[in-house]
Amino acid sequence: MSRPRQADDNAIAEAVAALARGELVAMPTETVYGLAADATNERAVLAVFAAKGRPRFDPLIVHCSDLAMVQQVAQVSPRAERLAAAFWPGPLTLVLPRRPLIPDVVTAGLDTVAVRIPAHPVAQALIRACGRPLAAPSANRFGAVSPTSAAHVAEQLASSLALILDGGPCAVGIESTVLVPDPQPLILRPGGVTRARIATVLGEPVRLAARQQRLDSLRLASPGLLSKHYAPRAPLVLRAPDEPWPDDAAALAFSSATAPAAGVFAVLSERGDLAEAAATLFAKLRALDALAPSRIVAELVPDEGLGEAINDRLRRAAGLG
Ligand code: TXA
Ligand code: MG
Repeated sequence: MSRPRQADDNAIAEAVAALARGELVAMPTETVYGLAADATNERAVLAVFAAKGRPRFDPLIVHCSDLAMVQQVAQVSPRAERLAAAFWPGPLTLVLPRRPLIPDVVTAGLDTVAVRIPAHPVAQALIRACGRPLAAPSANRFGAVSPTSAAHVAEQLASSLALILDGGPCAVGIESTVLVPDPQPLILRPGGVTRARIATVLGEPVRLAARQQRLDSLRLASPGLLSKHYAPRAPLVLRAPDEPWPDDAAALAFSSATAPAAGVFAVLSERGDLAEAAATLFAKLRALDALAPSRIVAELVPDEGLGEAINDRLRRAAGLG
């Protein structure tokens, strides 16, 4: 059983030792907390899937400290190099052809591997001190709301972890953007880096994958797989744009301007700022869920910039992914 520990040098050194023994550690990143294991240790990675209750067909992201480490793990194409220069360290994950260093269990047997260099100083320090890449999914039970604080991690996974490194609340608050750069840039999961910023760097249009393309990327056939994700315990439904807020449900509103006048509700960003809304989304969803409402009604946010990622999470929480 593990409680959050301030991520000072001592705690990081203990985390390095635990990872070297094949144990699991929760680490803060700028997006969400990750459930980390030595990516080169098959047994440790299997323990990650077991701790989350995650199906083995859903591959993990490999976290690296620098581009040299990325190159040990994957083949970095010219397009990927430009994206790396613009967005790493940061909330962008690239799906690249893999090299043999990473065992099959990490990539679910695919010939690609998802990699990113996280920006959080604790994640950076931890990977550097380990000297090897860390496989880390979000540190929540499979299908549940992602953790943006160490306390969130402890609620769901404490018994599986050697250590929970507390690096404060996550600044970005939603997961990284998952992008396949080649042969044409395709976003599999919108996230912390917006589509417009990626298109500007590449100087070409960037598409957002349809559901079938996402399944294809994982070589999955069944449409039922992965449909419900980021889900609170209470059923979550989306409010149609002009529909009034129901008075028998907990409401998740975008801004003060759109919030209900009374009742049980949370507001993502009082001033209607998308970056703030992304940073607070998962914590507000958890806080409403903790009130055990009969259901949660959420409204979509403007579908631009980070709004694309926020709306993706809300739709998937509603089972519409
Ligand atoms: O911000 C983040 O990305 C966080 C922090 C901890 O880094 N991690 C995270 O991991 O969100 P996870 O496991 O919750 O989501 C990883 C996503 C999944 O949707 C998975 O299907 C996809 O990345 N993925 C991983 N490897 C892939 C591959 N080779 N091809 C296509 N998709 C892949
Ligand atoms: Mg996740």
